[in-house]
Amino acid sequence: MSFQIGNVKIKNNVVLAPMAGICNSAYRRIIKEMGCGLIYAEMVSDKAIYYGSKKTIDMLYMTEMERPITQQIFGSDKDSFVAAAKYIYETMKPDIIDINMGCPVPKVALRAQAGSALLKNPEKVKEIVAAVVEVVPVPVTVKIRSGWDQNSINAVEIAKICEEAGASAIAVHGRTRSQGYSGTVNLDIIRDVKQAVSIPVIGNGDIKSCYDAKHMMEYTGCDAVMIGRGVLGNPWLIRECVEYLDFGIEPKEVTIKEKIDMIMKHFTYLLETKPEKVSLLEMRSHASWYLKGLPRNGEVRNKIMQTTTKDEFLNCILEYKRSLDYEI
Ligand SMILES: Cc1cc2nc3c(=O)[nH]c(=O)nc-3n(C[C@H](O)[C@H](O)[C@H](O)COP(=O)(O)O)c2cc1C
Repeated sequence: MSFQIGNVKIKNNVVLAPMAGICNSAYRRIIKEMGCGLIYAEMVSDKAIYYGSKKTIDMLYMTEMERPITQQIFGSDKDSFVAAAKYIYETMKPDIIDINMGCPVPKVALRAQAGSALLKNPEKVKEIVAAVVEVVPVPVTVKIRSGWDQNSINAVEIAKICEEAGASAIAVHGRTRSQGYSGTVNLDIIRDVKQAVSIPVIGNGDIKSCYDAKHMMEYTGCDAVMIGRGVLGNPWLIRECVEYLDFGIEPKEVTIKEKIDMIMKHFTYLLETKPEKVSLLEMRSHASWYLKGLPRNGEVRNKIMQTTTKDEFLNCILEYKRSLDYEI
């Protein structure tokens, strides 16, 4: 079912979570081909944009086919948030700009007082959201966690502040900052946020199957589900969720051939956007995820980890594919 964030129409209820080091243009293309309704690009630092870091500016690369796309920014200072949001809007024209208020990693939350640290400072939340809304003509959204820790769960309060400051949607990861990724997602807090605001709420956390997606939507009443770790090595999960939520279609098992073909495709897409060495390093992790559960995957993973060129990597995969064709 479609829904809308500001004036941006989203064709279904499945959203790709922002994941640093993962959600670059090549990966987003794969996810988009699976029919994802809305894609979040990996976060970029407001300060890095402000100071013109080439590495960060290169991370903003996006293509038309990825639309509608959200570019997420993290930071802690209103003026550099504003400068970064303006720059991103003017150069890339993303459909939506998102403010990160969920990142738990020490470098972001402790050292920079950004990401989830903002949850401890509702005044600053209001100030930053209002200022960003003011300077960009596209919808501004906010991604939050349930709170800083168990004793300060304030997602409802923060969501209301964001709405009042002009945010067009809220994504809620139902864990506190101190939980990191441990325990299980708290669906009650997502439901509470949904009941407290009238802008769309995107529920996030622990979706590993289309059944989890349906359960989150039904239990919390959220407008869409956001999927992160579940798509690592399994981008088909996006299609399964879209088909199950929209048409009740049960998922089919992904074949070994589809997984190996996806490794080749993913690597091809990476090589079109990044240098060989960088693509290879990224692809080693992705290949391990795609190979999970496949026969003799330990052996081929070890070989892949030792490859140093594109051709070595591709030969390794082709050799593995041939050995399986023989086995099957
Ligand atoms: C490798 C990795 C990188 C992430 N990077 C970001 C990020 O850039 N911005 C953000 O808001 N959340 C980030 N997250 C959190 C996810 O967006 C998501 O909220 C979290 O993984 C919970 O969803 P899941 O259970 O579906 O993975 C990241 C998570 C992972 C595993």
